[in-house]
Amino acid sequence: MNDLRQDEIEAKLLATPAPIGLPLSIASETESTNDDAKRAARSGIEAGAAFLANTQSRGRGRRGHAWYSPPGDNLYVSFVLRPRLSARDTPPLALAAGLAVVDAVRPLLSGDSLRIKWPNDVLLDGKKLAGILVEAQVVGERAASVVIGIGVNVHTREFPSDLSSLATSLALAGASIRHRGELFVALCHSLSRRVQELVERGVSHTVEELSHLDYLAGKTVTIEGERGTALGIHSDGRFRFRDHGGNERIVSAGQVTLGTR
Ligand code: BTN
Repeated sequence: MNDLRQDEIEAKLLATPAPIGLPLSIASETESTNDDAKRAARSGIEAGAAFLANTQSRGRGRRGHAWYSPPGDNLYVSFVLRPRLSARDTPPLALAAGLAVVDAVRPLLSGDSLRIKWPNDVLLDGKKLAGILVEAQVVGERAASVVIGIGVNVHTREFPSDLSSLATSLALAGASIRHRGELFVALCHSLSRRVQELVERGVSHTVEELSHLDYLAGKTVTIEGERGTALGIHSDGRFRFRDHGGNERIVSAGQVTLGTR
């Protein structure tokens, strides 16, 4: 069912104004909301613009992974932002967005099982609830625009077999959401707050805010084929681990898996 009603969502956004979420474009189907947002960003659309879709035919995750985007089920949204940030400080926007997702969904859930897995996942009971894809248009040292794409699994109860042991949804956790638009509006508020905090107080503040949610800290991990122990996120947003030789290492990108494989 497509419950993404432009008039209702805009009325909610205007009633409790958030600095992001408008102008709002809602597609019944698109290839990828990140691509829609990037095109609009290049054409000069104002900061705060949001691109929602009921379904995506080529939803993308990091490293070329597909993002499962069945119609009517989940939230697929991308925001165009123009924060005053150096290019170096844009990847940690994924951490700020992770915190924003946690802020938006926490009131819907009982218990305390939300975690953030560096660099871009929100986990619920150890399974992926949401993924974040940050893509920046860099000019010189600065980010001219940044697209923050967020996929939140809302209603899906059965995932394809390759995802079923890895992914979860708000519905599977017992949360009831009447309209995905409500979650979108909550996300507009939390994301604008978390991005503002990052810009004004720095990446280290964002890292501090999520330290109690860090899923990997202290765990044995494999990063890009190398085994180690996760040491928590560096104050600049990069990933710290101790390698098997006992040396502390810091990486800015990579796929981290739990365990030794
Ligand atoms: C990941 O887990 O690697 C990131 C997944 C990001 C998925 C969202 S859904 C909305 C937006 N449009 C896309 O094509 N991707 C992001």
